[in-house]
Amino acid sequence: IDPVRYIADRSSGAQGSAIAQALVGLGARVTFISGPASAPMPEGVDLVRVETAAEMLTAVQRNLPADGAVFAAAVADWRVASASDSKIKKDGSGALPVLEFAENPDILATVSQMKEGRPGLVVGFAAETDHVLDHATAKRLRKGCDWIVANDVSPETGIMGGSENDVTLISETGAEDWPRMGKQAVADRLAAKMAEVLGG
Ligand code: C5P
Repeated sequence: IDPVRYIADRSSGAQGSAIAQALVGLGARVTFISGPASAPMPEGVDLVRVETAAEMLTAVQRNLPADGAVFAAAVADWRVASASDSKIKKDGSGALPVLEFAENPDILATVSQMKEGRPGLVVGFAAETDHVLDHATAKRLRKGCDWIVANDVSPETGIMGGSENDVTLISETGAEDWPRMGKQAVADRLAAKMAEVLGG
């Protein structure tokens, strides 16, 4: 918004970090592109740190080709259209600042819809608060990815920022409901499934 204020969300980045760690554990060469996450970074990866959606898209494109790609980042859908160069001041008149937004590039959709050089397996996430399965199924088709890991991030689930996850894996062949388990267990199971498809 200005040099001291920004828009963020409640994601910790823990699920993405756990997936990278699980893939490293299976012997994959992993490039981990991370926004300003609070979760510990995975070990044994090539780490690329970014701050904005545009920077993340560039970093992703620079690091292709890849056999598989997982998009677990909670990328902001919108950014402030023109961030102020100096701190926006309260002038005592009671006038309120008005923020205008611009849409960020959709990294998952961009990569999923690549005509050439698309990763063989593209996995996206869907964080929803209602009609999880319907929204996530529609999202898979709209974005063009192969799998969507859908989770309910309503505050009462404690999933966003927490250590557990409760996911449904949606693919072309249907939806697979996984029991609630730790984020590392979700990551291990997802990585094992990716290895099956990508030939171990
Ligand atoms: O549309 P929504 O943000 O719910 O989609 C979630 C999925 O899309 C996640 O896999 C997320 O990493 C990805 N995404 C993206 N670029 C954006 C917004 C979301 O890659 N600008």
